[in-house]
Amino acid sequence: MKKITKAVIPAAGLGTRFLPITKAVPKPMLSVLDKPTIQYIVEELESVDIKDVLIVVSPGSDVIKKHFGAAEELEKRLLSDGKTELYEIAMATRKFNVSFVEQKVANGLAGAILCAEDFVKGEPFALLLGDELLYAEKGETPCIKRLAEVYGKTGKTTLAAMEVFGDDLSKYGNMGVKTEKDGIIYVDRIVEKPSVNDALSNYAIIGRYIIGAEVMDMLKTLTPRNNEIYLTDAFDILAARGDLVASGFEGKRYDVGDKAGYVKANIEFALKSEETREEIAGFIKELAAKL
Ligand code: G1P
Repeated sequence: MKKITKAVIPAAGLGTRFLPITKAVPKPMLSVLDKPTIQYIVEELESVDIKDVLIVVSPGSDVIKKHFGAAEELEKRLLSDGKTELYEIAMATRKFNVSFVEQKVANGLAGAILCAEDFVKGEPFALLLGDELLYAEKGETPCIKRLAEVYGKTGKTTLAAMEVFGDDLSKYGNMGVKTEKDGIIYVDRIVEKPSVNDALSNYAIIGRYIIGAEVMDMLKTLTPRNNEIYLTDAFDILAARGDLVASGFEGKRYDVGDKAGYVKANIEFALKSEETREEIAGFIKELAAKL
Protein backbone atom coordinates (compact mmCIF):
# COMPACT_ATOMS: atom_id res chain seq x y z
CA MET A 1 0.00 0.00 0.00
CA LYS A 2 1.37 3.39 -1.00
CA LYS A 3 2.33 5.65 1.91
CA ILE A 4 0.17 8.75 2.41
CA THR A 5 2.37 11.80 1.84
CA LYS A 6 -0.13 14.65 1.56
CA ALA A 7 -2.64 16.33 3.82
CA VAL A 8 -5.44 18.79 3.15
CA ILE A 9 -6.86 21.05 5.86
CA PRO A 10 -10.09 22.89 5.00
CA ALA A 11 -10.03 26.07 7.09
CA ALA A 12 -12.03 28.55 5.03
CA GLY A 13 -15.01 29.12 7.29
CA LEU A 14 -15.96 32.75 7.88
CA GLY A 15 -15.95 32.24 11.62
CA THR A 16 -19.24 34.07 12.13
CA ARG A 17 -19.76 32.19 15.42
CA PHE A 18 -16.66 33.95 16.73
CA LEU A 19 -17.49 37.53 15.74
CA PRO A 20 -16.19 40.12 16.43
CA ILE A 21 -12.66 38.62 16.71
CA THR A 22 -13.01 37.04 13.26
CA LYS A 23 -13.59 40.43 11.59
CA ALA A 24 -9.82 40.82 11.27
CA VAL A 25 -8.35 37.55 12.58
CA PRO A 26 -9.03 34.38 10.56
CA LYS A 27 -10.57 31.72 12.79
CA PRO A 28 -7.69 29.23 12.29
CA MET A 29 -5.41 31.80 13.97
CA LEU A 30 -7.40 31.80 17.22
CA SER A 31 -4.99 30.55 19.80
CA VAL A 32 -5.31 27.78 22.31
CA LEU A 33 -2.93 28.89 25.05
CA ASP A 34 -0.05 30.22 22.91
CA LYS A 35 -0.48 28.43 19.58
CA PRO A 36 -2.98 28.96 16.75
CA THR A 37 -5.41 26.06 16.33
CA ILE A 38 -4.22 25.53 12.74
CA GLN A 39 -0.67 24.84 13.96
CA TYR A 40 -1.85 22.12 16.37
CA ILE A 41 -3.63 20.46 13.46
CA VAL A 42 -0.60 20.61 11.15
CA GLU A 43 1.52 19.16 13.97
CA GLU A 44 -0.78 16.11 14.22
CA LEU A 45 0.87 15.13 10.91
CA GLU A 46 4.23 14.53 12.61
CA SER A 47 2.90 11.16 13.78
CA VAL A 48 2.47 10.00 10.16
CA ASP A 49 5.51 11.84 8.80
CA ILE A 50 3.48 13.91 6.32
CA LYS A 51 5.27 17.14 5.37
CA ASP A 52 3.26 18.32 2.36
CA VAL A 53 0.22 20.19 3.57
CA LEU A 54 -2.37 22.27 1.72
CA ILE A 55 -4.50 24.63 3.79
CA VAL A 56 -7.72 25.74 2.10
CA VAL A 57 -8.33 29.30 3.31
CA SER A 58 -10.85 32.03 2.70
CA PRO A 59 -9.71 35.14 0.80
CA GLY A 60 -7.85 37.57 3.09
CA SER A 61 -6.09 34.95 5.20
CA ASP A 62 -2.57 36.34 4.69
CA VAL A 63 -1.83 36.18 8.37
CA ILE A 64 -2.07 32.35 8.23
CA LYS A 65 0.44 32.33 5.36
CA LYS A 66 2.67 34.60 7.42
CA HIS A 67 2.48 32.25 10.38
CA PHE A 68 3.82 29.33 8.31
CA GLY A 69 6.47 31.41 6.56
CA ALA A 70 9.81 32.85 7.65
CA ALA A 71 10.05 35.59 10.28
CA GLU A 72 13.65 36.48 9.45
CA GLU A 73 14.11 39.48 11.77
CA LEU A 74 12.65 37.64 14.74
CA GLU A 75 14.60 34.45 14.02
CA LYS A 76 17.92 36.37 13.69
CA ARG A 77 17.25 38.28 16.87
CA LEU A 78 16.38 35.19 18.92
CA LEU A 79 19.55 33.45 17.69
CA SER A 80 21.86 36.40 18.36
CA ASP A 81 20.34 36.78 21.85
CA GLY A 82 21.04 33.07 22.49
CA LYS A 83 17.33 32.34 23.01
CA THR A 84 17.51 28.92 21.37
CA GLU A 85 14.35 27.53 22.96
CA LEU A 86 12.25 30.42 21.67
CA TYR A 87 14.00 30.14 18.31
CA GLU A 88 12.93 26.49 18.06
CA ILE A 89 9.36 27.49 18.92
CA ALA A 90 9.35 30.18 16.23
CA MET A 91 10.82 27.76 13.67
CA ALA A 92 8.42 24.86 14.41
CA THR A 93 6.05 25.64 11.53
CA ARG A 94 8.94 25.61 9.03
CA LYS A 95 9.32 21.81 9.32
CA PHE A 96 6.35 21.45 6.96
CA ASN A 97 5.91 22.37 3.31
CA VAL A 98 2.69 24.28 3.70
CA SER A 99 0.90 25.71 0.69
CA PHE A 100 -2.40 27.52 0.42
CA VAL A 101 -5.36 27.73 -1.88
CA GLU A 102 -8.28 30.13 -1.57
CA GLN A 103 -11.82 28.76 -1.54
CA LYS A 104 -13.54 31.64 -3.29
CA VAL A 105 -17.10 30.29 -3.14
CA ALA A 106 -18.53 29.16 0.20
CA ASN A 107 -19.72 25.80 -1.17
CA GLY A 108 -18.97 23.58 1.78
CA LEU A 109 -16.53 20.86 2.67
CA ALA A 110 -16.61 19.04 -0.67
CA GLY A 111 -16.05 22.42 -2.40
CA ALA A 112 -12.95 22.91 -0.24
CA ILE A 113 -11.66 19.46 -1.15
CA LEU A 114 -12.16 20.14 -4.86
CA CYS A 115 -9.86 23.18 -4.45
CA ALA A 116 -7.14 20.63 -3.55
CA GLU A 117 -7.34 18.66 -6.78
CA ASP A 118 -4.08 19.98 -8.28
CA PHE A 119 -2.29 19.42 -4.99
CA VAL A 120 -3.30 15.80 -4.41
CA LYS A 121 -2.63 14.79 -8.05
CA GLY A 122 -4.79 11.67 -7.96
CA GLU A 123 -3.24 10.29 -4.75
CA PRO A 124 -4.95 9.32 -1.50
CA PHE A 125 -4.56 11.99 1.20
CA ALA A 126 -5.17 12.78 4.85
CA LEU A 127 -8.02 15.22 5.50
CA LEU A 128 -8.10 17.15 8.77
CA LEU A 129 -10.92 19.58 9.47
CA GLY A 130 -9.75 22.89 10.87
CA ASP A 131 -12.46 23.15 13.53
CA GLU A 132 -11.33 20.20 15.59
CA LEU A 133 -8.27 19.51 17.72
CA LEU A 134 -7.34 15.92 18.41
CA TYR A 135 -5.04 15.33 21.33
CA ALA A 136 -3.30 12.04 22.15
CA GLU A 137 -1.44 11.61 25.45
CA LYS A 138 1.99 9.94 25.49
CA GLY A 139 1.54 6.21 24.81
CA GLU A 140 -1.70 6.74 22.88
CA THR A 141 -1.87 6.37 19.09
CA PRO A 142 -2.81 9.70 17.48
CA CYS A 143 -6.08 9.50 15.54
CA ILE A 144 -4.58 10.27 12.12
CA LYS A 145 -1.92 7.59 12.67
CA ARG A 146 -4.56 5.00 13.51
CA LEU A 147 -6.52 5.95 10.35
CA ALA A 148 -3.38 5.66 8.20
CA GLU A 149 -2.78 2.18 9.67
CA VAL A 150 -6.36 1.09 8.86
CA TYR A 151 -6.04 2.55 5.36
CA GLY A 152 -2.74 0.65 4.98
CA LYS A 153 -4.50 -2.61 5.91
CA THR A 154 -7.70 -2.15 3.89
CA GLY A 155 -6.89 0.28 1.06
CA LYS A 156 -10.33 1.83 1.65
CA THR A 157 -11.32 5.40 2.51
CA THR A 158 -11.13 5.51 6.31
CA LEU A 159 -13.18 7.66 8.70
CA ALA A 160 -12.70 8.41 12.40
CA ALA A 161 -15.68 7.25 14.45
CA MET A 162 -16.76 8.70 17.79
CA GLU A 163 -19.69 7.40 19.84
CA VAL A 164 -22.32 10.07 20.48
CA PHE A 165 -25.79 9.91 21.99
CA GLY A 166 -29.14 11.70 21.91
CA ASP A 167 -29.37 15.12 20.26
CA ASP A 168 -25.65 15.08 19.45
CA LEU A 169 -26.36 12.46 16.76
CA SER A 170 -27.83 15.11 14.49
CA LYS A 171 -24.68 17.27 14.59
CA TYR A 172 -22.55 14.82 12.60
CA GLY A 173 -22.39 12.47 9.65
CA ASN A 174 -23.60 9.08 10.87
CA MET A 175 -22.53 5.53 9.97
CA GLY A 176 -24.46 2.33 9.37
CA VAL A 177 -22.36 -0.62 10.52
CA LYS A 178 -22.16 -3.88 8.60
CA THR A 179 -19.60 -5.58 10.85
CA GLU A 180 -16.77 -4.73 13.20
CA LYS A 181 -13.61 -6.80 13.24
CA ASP A 182 -10.18 -6.19 14.82
CA GLY A 183 -11.12 -2.60 15.64
CA ILE A 184 -12.15 -1.86 12.05
CA ILE A 185 -15.75 -0.80 11.41
CA TYR A 186 -17.07 -1.88 7.99
CA VAL A 187 -19.57 0.82 7.01
CA ASP A 188 -22.56 0.08 4.78
CA ARG A 189 -24.38 3.43 4.80
CA ILE A 190 -23.81 7.09 5.59
CA VAL A 191 -26.33 9.79 6.40
CA GLU A 192 -25.40 13.43 6.97
CA LYS A 193 -26.76 14.90 10.23
CA PRO A 194 -29.79 12.61 10.67
CA SER A 195 -32.58 13.32 13.12
CA VAL A 196 -32.07 11.29 16.30
CA ASN A 197 -34.67 8.74 15.17
CA ASP A 198 -33.05 8.26 11.75
CA ALA A 199 -29.54 7.65 13.09
CA LEU A 200 -28.10 4.35 11.84
CA SER A 201 -25.80 3.79 14.84
CA ASN A 202 -24.10 5.77 17.59
CA TYR A 203 -21.03 6.29 15.44
CA ALA A 204 -20.49 9.88 14.34
CA ILE A 205 -17.94 10.93 11.72
CA ILE A 206 -15.42 13.35 13.16
CA GLY A 207 -13.04 15.56 11.25
CA ARG A 208 -10.16 13.19 10.48
CA TYR A 209 -10.09 11.01 7.38
CA ILE A 210 -7.88 9.19 4.91
CA ILE A 211 -9.49 9.86 1.55
CA GLY A 212 -9.00 7.30 -1.22
CA ALA A 213 -7.87 8.47 -4.68
CA GLU A 214 -11.28 7.80 -6.27
CA VAL A 215 -13.17 10.32 -4.12
CA MET A 216 -12.04 13.50 -5.91
CA ASP A 217 -13.61 12.38 -9.18
CA MET A 218 -16.75 11.18 -7.41
CA LEU A 219 -17.30 14.64 -5.91
CA LYS A 220 -17.52 16.10 -9.41
CA THR A 221 -20.39 13.79 -10.33
CA LEU A 222 -22.56 14.58 -7.31
CA THR A 223 -25.65 16.74 -7.48
CA PRO A 224 -25.51 19.67 -5.02
CA ARG A 225 -28.17 19.88 -2.29
CA ASN A 226 -28.87 23.30 -0.70
CA ASN A 227 -26.12 24.71 -2.99
CA GLU A 228 -23.55 22.39 -1.44
CA ILE A 229 -21.89 19.20 -2.59
CA TYR A 230 -21.79 16.77 0.31
CA LEU A 231 -18.65 14.74 1.01
CA THR A 232 -20.92 12.31 2.84
CA ASP A 233 -22.83 11.64 -0.42
CA ALA A 234 -19.59 10.26 -1.89
CA PHE A 235 -19.05 8.23 1.30
CA ASP A 236 -22.56 6.76 1.02
CA ILE A 237 -21.76 5.50 -2.50
CA LEU A 238 -18.47 3.97 -1.27
CA ALA A 239 -20.30 2.41 1.71
CA ALA A 240 -22.94 0.79 -0.51
CA ARG A 241 -20.24 -1.02 -2.47
CA GLY A 242 -18.24 -2.07 0.62
CA ASP A 243 -15.42 0.42 0.08
CA LEU A 244 -15.69 2.45 3.30
CA VAL A 245 -14.26 1.68 6.74
CA ALA A 246 -13.90 3.52 10.05
CA SER A 247 -12.09 3.24 13.34
CA GLY A 248 -12.39 4.58 16.86
CA PHE A 249 -9.41 6.49 18.21
CA GLU A 250 -7.47 7.15 21.40
CA GLY A 251 -7.16 10.56 22.97
CA LYS A 252 -9.50 13.53 23.14
CA ARG A 253 -11.30 15.69 20.61
CA TYR A 254 -12.01 19.38 21.10
CA ASP A 255 -14.57 21.18 18.97
CA VAL A 256 -12.78 24.51 18.72
CA GLY A 257 -15.32 25.79 16.18
CA ASP A 258 -17.71 26.18 19.09
CA LYS A 259 -17.26 28.79 21.84
CA ALA A 260 -17.66 26.39 24.75
CA GLY A 261 -15.40 23.79 23.06
CA TYR A 262 -12.79 26.49 22.46
CA VAL A 263 -12.80 27.60 26.09
CA LYS A 264 -12.62 23.96 27.28
CA ALA A 265 -9.58 23.37 25.02
CA ASN A 266 -7.88 26.45 26.48
CA ILE A 267 -8.52 25.30 30.05
CA GLU A 268 -7.28 21.77 29.41
CA PHE A 269 -4.16 22.92 27.54
CA ALA A 270 -3.41 25.40 30.33
CA LEU A 271 -3.63 22.47 32.77
CA LYS A 272 -1.27 20.38 30.58
CA SER A 273 1.36 23.12 30.38
CA GLU A 274 4.01 23.10 33.11
CA GLU A 275 4.21 26.87 32.88
CA THR A 276 0.56 27.50 33.77
CA ARG A 277 -0.73 24.27 35.39
CA GLU A 278 -0.35 25.17 39.06
CA GLU A 279 -1.72 28.69 38.83
CA ILE A 280 -4.68 27.75 36.64
CA ALA A 281 -5.55 24.66 38.75
CA GLY A 282 -5.63 26.86 41.85
CA PHE A 283 -7.74 29.45 40.06
CA ILE A 284 -10.24 26.84 38.84
CA LYS A 285 -10.60 25.40 42.35
CA GLU A 286 -11.24 28.89 43.75
CA LEU A 287 -13.83 29.58 41.08
CA ALA A 288 -15.47 26.17 41.47
CA ALA A 289 -15.87 26.68 45.22
CA LYS A 290 -18.08 29.70 44.46
CA LEU A 291 -20.23 28.05 41.78
C1 G1P B 1 -18.79 18.14 8.76
C2 G1P B 1 -19.27 16.92 8.00
C3 G1P B 1 -19.89 15.89 8.94
C4 G1P B 1 -18.92 15.56 10.07
C5 G1P B 1 -18.45 16.85 10.76
C6 G1P B 1 -17.36 16.52 11.76
O1 G1P B 1 -19.90 18.85 9.26
O2 G1P B 1 -20.20 17.32 7.01
O3 G1P B 1 -20.20 14.71 8.24
O4 G1P B 1 -19.54 14.71 11.00
O5 G1P B 1 -17.92 17.77 9.82
O6 G1P B 1 -17.08 17.64 12.54
P1 G1P B 1 -19.82 20.39 9.79
O7 G1P B 1 -19.41 20.30 11.24
O8 G1P B 1 -18.81 21.08 8.95
O9 G1P B 1 -21.19 20.93 9.64
